Formats: sequence, structure tokens, C-alpha cells
Amino acid sequence: MIDQRFTEIEAQLTNLQLVPVVSLPSVDAGLRLAEILIRCGLPVAEITFRTPCAADAIIAMRKEFDELLVLAGTVLTIDQVNIAHDVGAQCIVIPGFHEGVVDYCLARNIMVCPGAATPTEVLKCLTKGLQNVKFFPAEVAGGVGMLKAMAAVFSDTQFMPTGGISPDNLGDYLALDSVFCCGGSWLAPEALMKEGNWSEIEARVSSAVALLK
Ligand code: 3PG
Repeated sequence: MIDQRFTEIEAQLTNLQLVPVVSLPSVDAGLRLAEILIRCGLPVAEITFRTPCAADAIIAMRKEFDELLVLAGTVLTIDQVNIAHDVGAQCIVIPGFHEGVVDYCLARNIMVCPGAATPTEVLKCLTKGLQNVKFFPAEVAGGVGMLKAMAAVFSDTQFMPTGGISPDNLGDYLALDSVFCCGGSWLAPEALMKEGNWSEIEARVSSAVALLK
């Protein structure tokens, strides 16, 4: 049975519409970014396990900012699930369908959003009772056209397209009933955070938020 907390997180994501996908260069960068996201009215981030500070950054961000929804992204192994869950990540995001990781999360009542880019992968998610999936890599896997084709068959599945989403196509994805939110890394790329170009990041976040209204 799906936990009530998961339904609440899905509702939050649906309401927020957009999740910044972030590979943090440092814990401080995570805190700085969290401040910007909250100030701009987009209190959510998927912190990828692609950089070594991901777990420490999640601890710090969760401790400092109650109102921030923190997802753990690029989770590829059960060890990473344990780390992400222990540090307080509220949802595990997998770029593809990994049955072992999915089963592990479900058995431990940990919210999981696996990736699915084909009908076969969506079916695998449905078999596990999962209706919210990450459609990755969205643009190269067929984009809006592919989602329309899949939505015709999988009427209960809700997708989070990620991969190639930009201000230019965000509206096209969000217009689909089968999309509950989108993910994108253009809001806070690692290079801009490394440079300390926080004004550019804030400008990107606030103009994205303006597009959502
Ligand atoms: C992800 O981590 O989900 C994707 O790499 C994000 O894709 P993007 O960089 O095209 O936004």
C-alpha cells in the first residue's frame, strides 16, 4: 500500500511543477541554492549522487530549511538508497528501472520514483504499483510525442520528464495531463555554482517560476 506521506509529496511536486536537478560542488553551494529556491518560490531540489558532497549537502539543507522538499537523484544502488534515506531525502529518484533498488525501497516504505523511457519500463513500474515515474531522457526518448503515445495506453501513469527540458519546451510538457512535474538542470548548473554566479542562477530560477504562473 502506498504511504500517505508519498501521496503528499506527489501533491507537492504536482503543485511545484518543476524540480531543479542539481549536482552540487559543495555543501555551502547547496545551502546557497536552497536560499535562492525558497526566495523565488520553488522550494524543491533533486540532489544528484553524482558529486561526493551529495549526502552531506542533503543533511545540511534539510536541517536548515524545513520548507525545502529534497529528492535524492541519480540513485543507482541499494547502498545509495540507504545513505539518501538516512540523511533525510524525501524521495529516491532512479534514472532507470532497477528492480532491486525499487523492491528495496518498497519493502522499507521509502518513496521511489524510477525512470521509464519505454512502454515496457512503464509496465514494470506499474507491476510494482508505481504510477509516478521519471521519463528520462525525455527529449531524446521521444519527448512530448512519446509521452502522448504512452499516456494513451497508461492512463494512470504520471510522468516527470527530465533530460533536455528548457524554458523553451517546459510549457509543452506541463500542458500534458500525463505530466505531474518536470525536472531540469539548467536552473543551477554545476559550472555556475562553481563560479559562484548566484545572480545568474537566481535569474534562471525566477524566470522559470514566472513561466509556471
Ligand atoms: C537528470 O539528471 O535527470 C538529467 O541529467 C537532467 O537533464 P538535463 O541536464 O537535460 O536537465
